[in-house]
Amino acid sequence: MDRAAPKKSRSTLVLFVIILVLVVLGAAGRISDNADLTPAQFTKKHGSTSAEGIAQVLVNKTHPLIPATFVPSQLVVPNVPLRDNITDDEKQVSKVIQVPLQQLFAAALKDGVTLNLQSGYRSYSSQVALYNQYVADQGQAEADMYSAKPGHSEHQTGLAFDAGGLSKPECNIQACYAETSEGKWLQQNSYKYGFIVRYPKDKQGITGYNYEPWHLRYIGAKDAKAFGKNPALTLEEFYKQK
Ligand code: DAL
Ligand code: ZN
Repeated sequence: MDRAAPKKSRSTLVLFVIILVLVVLGAAGRISDNADLTPAQFTKKHGSTSAEGIAQVLVNKTHPLIPATFVPSQLVVPNVPLRDNITDDEKQVSKVIQVPLQQLFAAALKDGVTLNLQSGYRSYSSQVALYNQYVADQGQAEADMYSAKPGHSEHQTGLAFDAGGLSKPECNIQACYAETSEGKWLQQNSYKYGFIVRYPKDKQGITGYNYEPWHLRYIGAKDAKAFGKNPALTLEEFYKQK
């Protein structure tokens, strides 16, 4: 009689191991399956989210990261000029964009344009601190026009970065960045390296944010080529028509 107990716990353990294996295989399958999905299919299947290495992921006010605390598995410090006092968090980007980012910066330099990295990856907790500071300074309505809520920022994917430069430092992270040599060069050329200017002028109704000529987002070489240097196209519109 008293032998029944260990037998039962053995079978419980076996069941637990089987479930664990299935869960792990399921998660792995989910990530690799996603590689074949178009952005529209991806969003439909998962209701948005971020999956590792998916350059097409859509992240905006209605498509948060899943989980909200998502961290890219490989973060690296690219070999590009960094702004003074950049944080350890923000000097990183996803390994997915390291090479294209370095190519972008090198191509700009070849054309006489020196870019620097203002802000790359931002963790969930950095975004909490930043967003709360903006809300305290400007009020929530204003902050929401230029800062993503934690768990809703492309910076958290490691696929986006803010560019700056030295030609007019006062225009870094300002609308007048569009008129600087760096901002103009990025608008004309970033698509060649897989990047787009993510928040165009007068598209707040679609993107949810004011014009940000400095915020670049990697969407992959093929999509960026199709996207081109169209200054009035948003990623939301582009994915819808795809
Ligand atoms: N400034 C962009 C919207 C962000 O906070 O991610
Ligand atoms: Zn940004």
